[in-house]
Amino acid sequence: MYYPDPCYRESALIHDYNELYHEFEKDPDAFWRRIASDLLWFKPWDKVRVWEHPHASWFTGAELNITYNCLERHVNNDRRNKVAIFWAGENGRERIFTYYQLYKDVMRMGNALKSLGVQKGDRVCIYLPGIPELVVSMLACARIGAVHTVVFAGYGAKALNERITGAGAKIVITADASVRRGGSIPLKPIVEEALIHAPTVEKVIILRTQEPKVGLLDDFELDYEELINQADRYCEPVHVNSEDPLFILYTSGTTGAPKGIVHAAGGYMVGAYYTTKYVLTLRENDVYWCTADPGWITGHTYGIYGPLLVGGTIFLSEYTPDYPDAGIWWKLVEDYGVTIFYTAPTAIRMFMRMGEEWPQKYDLSSLRLLGSVGEPLNPEAFEWFYKYIGKEKCPILDTWWQTETGMHMVTTMVGLPMKPGFAGKPIPGVVATVVDERGEPILPGTTGYLAIKEPWPSMMKGVYQNDERYRQYWSFGKYGYYSSNDLAVMDEEGYIMLLGRSDDIIIVAGHNVGTAEIESALVSHSAVAEAAAIGKPDPLKGNIIKAFVILRNGVEQTPKLIHDLKYHVRIMLGPISVPAELDFVDNLPKTRSGKIMRRVLKAKEMGMDPGDISTLDE
Ligand code: WTA
Repeated sequence: MYYPDPCYRESALIHDYNELYHEFEKDPDAFWRRIASDLLWFKPWDKVRVWEHPHASWFTGAELNITYNCLERHVNNDRRNKVAIFWAGENGRERIFTYYQLYKDVMRMGNALKSLGVQKGDRVCIYLPGIPELVVSMLACARIGAVHTVVFAGYGAKALNERITGAGAKIVITADASVRRGGSIPLKPIVEEALIHAPTVEKVIILRTQEPKVGLLDDFELDYEELINQADRYCEPVHVNSEDPLFILYTSGTTGAPKGIVHAAGGYMVGAYYTTKYVLTLRENDVYWCTADPGWITGHTYGIYGPLLVGGTIFLSEYTPDYPDAGIWWKLVEDYGVTIFYTAPTAIRMFMRMGEEWPQKYDLSSLRLLGSVGEPLNPEAFEWFYKYIGKEKCPILDTWWQTETGMHMVTTMVGLPMKPGFAGKPIPGVVATVVDERGEPILPGTTGYLAIKEPWPSMMKGVYQNDERYRQYWSFGKYGYYSSNDLAVMDEEGYIMLLGRSDDIIIVAGHNVGTAEIESALVSHSAVAEAAAIGKPDPLKGNIIKAFVILRNGVEQTPKLIHDLKYHVRIMLGPISVPAELDFVDNLPKTRSGKIMRRVLKAKEMGMDPGDISTLDE
């Protein structure tokens, strides 16, 4: 147990977790009404929440615009000239946006999109690296009521195509290239390939950063800068209904195609605001660094929307943690006086491996709070982070949540005693528990499933065009709880430890990768007959992908083929989905109905007992 200095509890907005939790339980609607009242609404709501299992509506009848809360609310008040974004690019490039500057750019981009015929409800796909234009583009969509779907710029052409066509995007916003580790990675060819079968796309907006400038295809490809320069200055914030979609973000599915998680404007705004203010405790003088790429949910909620809603200062960077050397992130912390540092366990483990001499070269005394998200923070990594980065004074927030939940759900609130290995307790506003497969409570210390019993404001509105898939989430056990698909244990004191996924999703270096997507990419190669992918525990990345491949008759097993298959997956899906290990096999364990039993492969791989194999077809 780690006890933070009492000053943390005093300065946190929540002094008494139990008291606030109790306030929430007594009257959930009053609790959320109080939070939502901090924000500006064009039209008030009729009801805080309407719950018709499994569908919930939040702040029904209300009208709002999230950008009005992220921008005008500050620009028309004391934060007009406050830094909204510090951006640090490789080679010492720096860009700074005050709230007023961001506001102006967002309005111009909003008008530019409108000039291309984008209307409320239209989908816009954003495929950009972590640069300020990504923030501007997201907010510009929200400004005019368009629905953004951001695709992480590390995804390959097939993955991008699936997301563009899945969402039916009208416009794609991208860049010629992204900068990485002293070089550049071309993005335009990936987009070109992804657009081959993407009939809904009418225009592509391209930010050209490189010289000589890449050529543009007449009438189809437009220059980002030119477009924004020609656009009108003032852009009215469109009044959207609380239940209108704000964005779609794709996450891996257990079968087939990725799922488009839809978040609605009003509830998402309230959830992002509440947790950034009360859980992350982001305050006026903080310089806050969330290291997640804006293309993931963490980047959406805690890299952009949450901090802008509370009027915070965001630090955003394109530096990878090890280039030009392993001290770069700590140098940035020192240079910008970062106070809150929110990262992923895989990054922490990488820093551990590189050695504490790197952070020790820099002055990290500005830090006051550390955070972790994406996968379990193992006790060794917790202790290292606590000692060498937080200097045994900063509390660590290990936050459990998901793309689908939109906001933090389980953590140890700032100021409370921390247990390494345990994320913590449900935050006030969230009713989460660990149950058996029937949904019944289980004894402390026994493994079960993390389930959520009641709706919360930033819960996903739906799965895009797939209500059946949405319903599956809210059908756990006999009470129809929301299933997180995570295994968990709760101890005597109510602290929850996460044990990993119970489904076919692999968390690799904190990123969700679906076995189905990797398998289908492998099978699309002419040499492959069948494939299976599993997650294999790895001390650095949490898991690595291991693939088992059955080749077609007559195809020879060569080391070159292994290389080719990995490359094939890389081109289709992007580097995060590439199997680190690939074995050729003659058969795969299957159920009698022909479903691959990945569990059996995994047990074998790890030298463990495969458990119940009664359904295995011998
Ligand atoms: C895992 C990321 C343990 C979990 C915000 C979850 C975690 C999945 C934690 C969601 C944590 C996230 N401890 N596991 N603190 N945070 N996970 O949708 O398996 O990218 O279901 O959202 O990441 O990943 P997603």
